[in-house]
Amino acid sequence: MRAGEGRALVVRGEPGVGKTVLLDYLAGRASGCLVARAAGVQSEMELAFAGLHQLCAPMLDHVESLPGPQREALRTAFGLSVGPVPDRFLVGLAVLGLLSETAGERPLVCVVDDQQWLDRASAQALGFAARRLAADPVGLVFAARVPGVDVAGLPELVVEGLAASDARALLESVLTGVTAPLDARVRDRIIADTHGNPLALLELTKGLTPAELTGGFGVSHAVPLDGRIEESFRRQLEALPAQTRRLVQLAAADPSGDPVLVWRAAGRLAIGAGAAGPAVEAGLAEFGARVRFRHPLVRSAAYWSASVQTRQELHAALAEATDPAVDPDRRAWHRAQAAPGPDEEVAVELEQCAGRAKRRGGVAAAAAFLERSAGLTVDPARRAQRTLAAAQAKLQAGALDAALGLLAMAQAGSLDELASARVDLLRGQIAFASGLSGDAPPLLLKAAKRLESLDLDLARETYLSAWMAALFAGRFAGAGDVTEVSRAARGLCAVHSPQPAALVLDALTMLVTDGPFVAAPALRQVARVFTSESISTEEELRWGWLAQAAASALWDDVPWRTMLLRQVQLARDVGALDQLPIDLASLGTATAWTGDFTVVSALIAEADAIRAATGSRTAPFAAMLLASLRGNQAEATPVIEAAIADAPARGQGIAATYAHWAAAILANGLGRYADALAAAKQASQDSPALFVAMWALPELIEAATRTGNAHIASDALARLAETTQAGATDFGLGVEARSRALVSAGETAERCYREAIDRLGRTQLRPELARAHLLYGEWLHRENRRRDARAELRTAYDLFTAIGMEAFAGRTRRELLATGDTVRERTVQTASELTAQEAHIARLAVDGRTNAEIGTRLFLSTRTVEWHLSKVYSKLGIGSRRELPRAMASLGQASPQALGTSGRTGPRIPSFLDAGKAPDEQGG
Ligand SMILES: Nc1ncnc2c1ncn2[C@@H]1O[C@H](COP(=O)(O)OP(=O)(O)OP(=O)(O)O)[C@@H](O)[C@H]1O
Ligand SMILES: [Mg+2]
Repeated sequence: MRAGEGRALVVRGEPGVGKTVLLDYLAGRASGCLVARAAGVQSEMELAFAGLHQLCAPMLDHVESLPGPQREALRTAFGLSVGPVPDRFLVGLAVLGLLSETAGERPLVCVVDDQQWLDRASAQALGFAARRLAADPVGLVFAARVPGVDVAGLPELVVEGLAASDARALLESVLTGVTAPLDARVRDRIIADTHGNPLALLELTKGLTPAELTGGFGVSHAVPLDGRIEESFRRQLEALPAQTRRLVQLAAADPSGDPVLVWRAAGRLAIGAGAAGPAVEAGLAEFGARVRFRHPLVRSAAYWSASVQTRQELHAALAEATDPAVDPDRRAWHRAQAAPGPDEEVAVELEQCAGRAKRRGGVAAAAAFLERSAGLTVDPARRAQRTLAAAQAKLQAGALDAALGLLAMAQAGSLDELASARVDLLRGQIAFASGLSGDAPPLLLKAAKRLESLDLDLARETYLSAWMAALFAGRFAGAGDVTEVSRAARGLCAVHSPQPAALVLDALTMLVTDGPFVAAPALRQVARVFTSESISTEEELRWGWLAQAAASALWDDVPWRTMLLRQVQLARDVGALDQLPIDLASLGTATAWTGDFTVVSALIAEADAIRAATGSRTAPFAAMLLASLRGNQAEATPVIEAAIADAPARGQGIAATYAHWAAAILANGLGRYADALAAAKQASQDSPALFVAMWALPELIEAATRTGNAHIASDALARLAETTQAGATDFGLGVEARSRALVSAGETAERCYREAIDRLGRTQLRPELARAHLLYGEWLHRENRRRDARAELRTAYDLFTAIGMEAFAGRTRRELLATGDTVRERTVQTASELTAQEAHIARLAVDGRTNAEIGTRLFLSTRTVEWHLSKVYSKLGIGSRRELPRAMASLGQASPQALGTSGRTGPRIPSFLDAGKAPDEQGG
């Protein structure tokens, strides 16, 4: 770590085995390093960011040097300022940045004890940072009895009991005062019994008489070791004077360890300052600058040794001693613990805490507050409402089972019509979130129908959710497919509303029920609104993905890419990492159509980084398409096959459709038309053929004509033309003309080929244009017009090689050779020396991004970005960033403008004329 490489470690082991002692040792030995410490406290588990704040408080000076959004996210999370609700991954990234910045002075060691008791928000942020330490001189060490999910997979150090000889030595050291020497057999039995657990050796022998000792204490194996240690502590507590015991119990009920607070509460309970003495003497607790326990088991023994009524009194005193202005949440929490029964006043206070937690991004804490609030609510209707709100928060926190449990509870209560429709809505959302999207559409559809008469806006939003869920579920949607959802929603669309969500719903459902021709004006209107400046950020973020579908349905490629770029940019800006993988996959798809494979690779790398960081389960859409267009079978086939195999379990029919489409492209490129036919049939089976299924139609037509299935081709052409005619763009009409040429003969065919080339030549869709030249060339060859054929095929070959479409280039080359032409085989140059991540970072640097911006994009600290860049420099043999553009250009890795860095005004997308052609191929 001192060598400048970040490390994370999880120290795990049973209670009392010595984890905390090890951490203390580590902190003491870290000379020359900064040391920051925090510990989870059992009773504090639901105070959002409490643990993180404890760790980071001494570092907060460095917050200023973080990029703006991260700085804001962290400040909001800590309640230091009021801002938009921070995305949890953004908080994680900010923590990574903060640790890295702090370590700029000296290496930093962070020690987090009792990780299992960290509040959820802290655990997530620290787990995120721990996984992404790279070039940062930061060591992050957790200790836990049973590590939580947030640190799963990090390297572990398992601490086991002391070796027999050490255990013997320890035991003898504590028994020096005992009169009779310990019988060796008894001693060995004690050691075997405790498995060398040092706390057990120390504590279980305390207060035992020599006779008891001689008898050994392996009385009951039914009680686990920590239970027996706790029992021993309980005995020690019992031996204390009553007031002392009460003071220790009070301290145990306060997780903050703040002595001022404890003494203030003690005053209210008439416990004098002298009460501390005996506890300190017995070595059970300290009441110094902080209140500390000998061991967490002392705290739990003390707490649970108090009667229910006593505990309520203790919490009441602590609540009164807590300043509501400074720490309202802690106060409310104590009040809740103090409440002997339902208490509306406290329930309201807890509800307010939930609101505060939510605004800071602490959804798990919000859920806990709401759940507790519901538990204290008398009025049945209100209780059901609060339970429902708790379920919603659990869903947001990703605790899906807990959410379902609360829904069941809410349903058992008295719900009004709206609340019970909301239960359906939540069930649908939970199904969608859990990845079983096949179950989601019917649930959401049911909820939307019920909501129609209750809350129009919510009904609309629910229909849109149902529509999207149905689109994703595709062939697995069952009873709630897009057709059914669209039909159901049409009634609502008759109620006019100028809201963007209403426009999107109207256009998309009409597309399904009335077809693209009727829907075209509505679809165009959506594209207009969502490419204008009038749309609000919030609405664009929420509905932008569905809005781009409207342009896509009409083959309207320019607004389509514009909307997707804006969508990706927006999601990046606000750190909406849950939706970014989908946005990036869509932009990757749209960009692949233009043949800018460098850009597509970068988008895929970005999506992969997010998937790795967030555990998102989105299928690798763009990666499938890119591999197929490149035509590298070894690369494409495994990705495609995996996507097809995974689709049913994930309920993602769209992934299967997409994979079949990609397989059809691959097979058409390789000239394996029977395979292409089978794949394209699968991909285009959905009816109506929307998006991916629609894109599969030209593949189907090409494969069908090449395999002599004229009727399949002409059916597919009719389906295709419905959409392309409605869109009336050069993209759509060009693809249609090319497909029509395939099923035509003579003059008609030739006219259609020329039209296709003409139209596609006006777009930025180079792969489509190249394929038009190829098909025209193949046709001319069959017509025995060799010279003309060669000209077309050479153009196609140049384009395919420039873009990097190996399989299609091969098919073209074979055709050229058959015409008697000679053609040198060319390969596409790739930057082999750099790793994918290095190449991506280098491209972003060439594009003018700062290291901090690159770090934000790829979830790395600025320092790690610098480290990668220095490796890039040495691999490329250059000395500085200034030389990077030229060095990258010579690798064929020029700056990708279309990475989406140009904000709302829309990007400059490199046109066919100025991008992609390597210098030696220009004019060729
Ligand atoms: N190697 C050791 N030699 C002697 N005593 C030890 C050793 N390790 C731990 N102990 C003793 O055992 C006690 C318990 O250890 P520690 O508090 O580190 O346990 P822990 O693993 O952190 O347990 P928990 O999970 O309950 O926090 C210590 O207070 C110390 O007195
Ligand atoms: Mg410990």
